[in-house]
Amino acid sequence: MKKILLTGGTGYIGSHVCIELLNNGYQVFVIDNLSNSSKQVLSQIEVITGRNVTFFENDVRDKRSLIKIFKKHSFDCVIHLAGLKSLNDSVNNPLDYYNNNVISAISLFEVMSQTGCKSIIFSSSASVYGVPSILPITEACSLSTTNPYAETKIVIENLLQDMFISDSDWNISILRYFNPVGAHQSGLIGESLSGVPSNLFPYISKVAKGDFPKLTIFGNDYDTHDGTGIRDFIHVVDLAKGHLKSLEVMQSNSKVLVLNLGTGKGYSVLDVVKEFEVASNQTIPYEYVARRKGDVAQCYADPSLAFKLLNWKAELNLSQMCQDAWNWEKFGPPL
Ligand code: WQD
Repeated sequence: MKKILLTGGTGYIGSHVCIELLNNGYQVFVIDNLSNSSKQVLSQIEVITGRNVTFFENDVRDKRSLIKIFKKHSFDCVIHLAGLKSLNDSVNNPLDYYNNNVISAISLFEVMSQTGCKSIIFSSSASVYGVPSILPITEACSLSTTNPYAETKIVIENLLQDMFISDSDWNISILRYFNPVGAHQSGLIGESLSGVPSNLFPYISKVAKGDFPKLTIFGNDYDTHDGTGIRDFIHVVDLAKGHLKSLEVMQSNSKVLVLNLGTGKGYSVLDVVKEFEVASNQTIPYEYVARRKGDVAQCYADPSLAFKLLNWKAELNLSQMCQDAWNWEKFGPPL
């Protein structure tokens, strides 16, 4: 049985990746410092899969602990998701973002190199494309950033590329996520947030539930079919399955893969509002305000390379994303 180390494995995306790995026979080890997640997620994962996870409550920057873990268990591959992820927050706290994201990557890659584990899947983001130069966005599009969060992703991507140049034994997949949304169909895990959400889906969910009176839509004067911003929303379970496919392909090849994980379809903020109203059977009141700083009009993937190389494509549609997000918001346990 293959042994996989998942950093950030109790987080939103990590927990869904964990389920896919367990359901497909992998032995999963999770490292998480629980800075933005809870240990109870692991019990939920065990209920869903009927399998156990070995958990280390550690910060990936703690190299001493990391070396011990790597020496005790020889992992076949690491999936690195741990990190801070709020774009807005990163603008106000760049030091935290560079420290958490870049230092943890260096710490992890050093330990991997020292212990001879040279297979890694890294969680990158569509935010590395900045203002997209073409649509749909291919992996060859130029990279540019508008915030420190995205900058940390580019730094780590570049580091991985340089590591491969210096040592071709590395086997690297860089996955650029578009807008992950929704939750596990069981309703037992999803995105747990404290405070006011800054992303669209969690905010709409809370409006539907009655926690907030209305949605604020940032801009209705974009050059799109209804004037609101367009994004490539991807169901988090589809995204998790992309990791699984990547893992399977990596086992037979040594190289650097850079892949978009998106659906290839763009939906506007108003499209999402309408679909969420159907899924929740609630009216979502909204008002238009000025554009949000740093937002682009449209961002959606060309996911054909992932289909070609991994035989992966997203299968769940916007309706499913809204239903699962709503199911989690309404019935999910407090984690
Ligand atoms: C989507 C659309 C907003 C909230 C970021 C990162 C991306 C990924 C996901 C990490 C935009 C509009 C939003 C609201 C609104 N994360 N909106 N009212 O900014 O596209 O993507 O998070 O890697 O990489 O870039 O996501 O959900 O914040 O916004 O009108 O209250 O919804 O203006 O058009 P974004 P989002």
